[in-house]
Amino acid sequence: MNLVIKPARSLRGTVSVPGDKSISHRAVMLGALAEGATLIENFLPGEDCLATVACFRKLGVEISWTGKDSLRIQGCGLEGLREPEEVLDAGNSGTTMRLLLGIMAGQPFFSVLNGDASLRCRPMARVTGPLVRMGARIEGRQGGNLAPLAVQGGNLKPVHYNSPVASAQVKSAVLLAGLFAGGVTSVTEPYRSRDHTERMLRHFGAKVDVSGTTVRVAGRPRLLGRKIAVPGDLSSASFLMVAAAALPGSDLTLQRVGINPARSGIIDALTGMGASIELLNPREEGGEPVAEIRVRCTGRLTGIAVGGEMIPRLIDEIPALAVAAALAGGRTEIRDAAELKVKESNRIATVAGMLASFGAVVEELPDGLLVKGGKPLRGCACRSHGDHRIALAASVAGLLAEGETIVHDAECMNVSFPGFDGLLKKILV
Ligand code: S3P
Repeated sequence: MNLVIKPARSLRGTVSVPGDKSISHRAVMLGALAEGATLIENFLPGEDCLATVACFRKLGVEISWTGKDSLRIQGCGLEGLREPEEVLDAGNSGTTMRLLLGIMAGQPFFSVLNGDASLRCRPMARVTGPLVRMGARIEGRQGGNLAPLAVQGGNLKPVHYNSPVASAQVKSAVLLAGLFAGGVTSVTEPYRSRDHTERMLRHFGAKVDVSGTTVRVAGRPRLLGRKIAVPGDLSSASFLMVAAAALPGSDLTLQRVGINPARSGIIDALTGMGASIELLNPREEGGEPVAEIRVRCTGRLTGIAVGGEMIPRLIDEIPALAVAAALAGGRTEIRDAAELKVKESNRIATVAGMLASFGAVVEELPDGLLVKGGKPLRGCACRSHGDHRIALAASVAGLLAEGETIVHDAECMNVSFPGFDGLLKKILV
């Protein structure tokens, strides 16, 4: 699908973005491992989360739709999954594959996990390494680094794992495997990554301790089915936030968006650039902080430097942030973000290429990007590289550019933001 984007004047109104991708995956996974029913509302019906649903159905879990974005999961308990007869296909979803590897490592059966061409290039040794140390047998290309991966799980022992990267997928895979090991499993990261797994494990009844950048989970807990209302996804919201911050006259409110502090770096970064962002009615729902986010255009954005512990707090929002940087006055330097190279595309290269095609001045750095902002963007034809966040960032750049933009292969947006085009039409003035 090619998406044609015309320059926008302003974004105004009050809308909701689709449910959070990270939380939707975890709700299905923990719902499957719990005893009794779990009811999920505002589930993200994007392709990544649908891949997780399909995998758990193959593992014998009954999952039914009770509405267009609500699910009922009949949990099997920690010992109730059954050996899948078919390959578990994670599609484009790193979260599905990595978290599922943790769960499969704990099962006394054989399973094979695969994904699409992009996922088959993404590093899995960061997850299979600690899982093998816990006692799982995992084989794959490049010594267990690349999918397809074959797992013979069971008989795990608890470990302490010192992760070299701040990655919620690594941390979550080890913690989920730890559910099947007797004793306490722990993970230490260089910086804190998103903590949805920890929060949701507690919500389902597991014992989880956090101190500094170390998380501990007690094995073999009794998880009980729960009701979960998934917050709106801040990563999806960030694209609209950038457009509203940059388009004169904009006043946009996004309802019930997740503002978990481990994810909210984009709010801090855009505020630091001069955007007006208000968090209205902040509250906690189901263990996750949420608020309405109101963004108004102030007419002045200036460049910013981001790096260090801020990076895991906005890693998925860097494509959106880079678009804001292209419009802002002065330089924006994004450092310590080499992880961008192993996302759905090499996002250092694809963000730089996308912005350059709009006429922005941008340089690739070994661990990030340097954007010299302030030059007007020119509409162009650009490619998504099969990466949903590149397609979304290019669309936002198109709203802010002069002339028409065509985003080729834009259907990958459905991975995280189904209905983007329709939602945009509601708020375009
Ligand atoms: C995710 C963790 C992050 C993020 C990804 C979703 C998660 O990846 O980029 O989109 O749901 O745990 P890493 O764990 O590789 O940093």
